[in-house]
Amino acid sequence: MPQGRYGVRHNSRRGQDSQGRGALECLAMLETSRLRLRRLHASDEADLVELDRDPLVMRYVGSPRGVRTHEETVERVRQRIHADHGAGGWWIIEDKHDGAFHGVGLLLGMPEGDDVEVGYRLARRSWGRGIATEAAAALIDHAFAALRVPRMVAVVYPDNHPSRRVLSKLGFAHDGPREYRGARVEHYTLAASAWRALRVDNRGDAPA
Ligand SMILES: CC(C)(COP(=O)(O)OP(=O)(O)OC[C@H]1O[C@@H](n2cnc3c(N)ncnc32)[C@H](O)[C@@H]1OP(=O)(O)O)[C@@H](O)C(=O)NCCC(=O)NCCS
Repeated sequence: MPQGRYGVRHNSRRGQDSQGRGALECLAMLETSRLRLRRLHASDEADLVELDRDPLVMRYVGSPRGVRTHEETVERVRQRIHADHGAGGWWIIEDKHDGAFHGVGLLLGMPEGDDVEVGYRLARRSWGRGIATEAAAALIDHAFAALRVPRMVAVVYPDNHPSRRVLSKLGFAHDGPREYRGARVEHYTLAASAWRALRVDNRGDAPA
């Protein structure tokens, strides 16, 4: 597999997307030193529903934030499993060595404009080990390579300090509050040029 920056390995093939455009196929898989990021499968449904039914995980997720009913959660999870977002979309984050489920990452178009958002959501047991930063770095690397966007954006609730710290470690610049799907959030941007300029540290996967 070709090796990208931050030790990210891309396993993908050139093909046609659902609109018939030449694109990186949706089968792409990304690897970092500890993680594998891959497409969602039907067999992931139980892990994904459990993740989105945890009130602590969902405390700063969604607009409005918080857990949905079991039925709505199952419906949303099934939509994600079957969605085709081309080279972006939803990704399972799992342990590269034993396949343990950590959570999900996403690369999705913002509700307005051409910006692509990076996001991440981990099971509680996976917090506090640098996994979100490592996974998001792989997604950003992939987005700049495959989607060829000039910048990435991220939105976060003001009081989600761990997530704001993740964005800061990745080199995102905070450019103030915004409205996002009816919620007041903090808006962050990361230019492709700024990402390229980040120096790779000795640990390989996570920027300083
Ligand atoms: C936010 C989340 C993704 C972070 O995942 P993680 O793998 O623990 O993140 P990392 O370990 O890469 O980095 C977290 C950083 O926040 C810091 N942090 C943790 N709690 C903090 C707090 N209360 N205030 C400030 N910083 C905090 C950590 O120390 C770490 O920084 P450091 O590496 O400088 O020590 C995870 O907690 C999660 O999934 N939360 C629920 C879903 C969610 O909120 N998703 C984001 C929506 S925008």
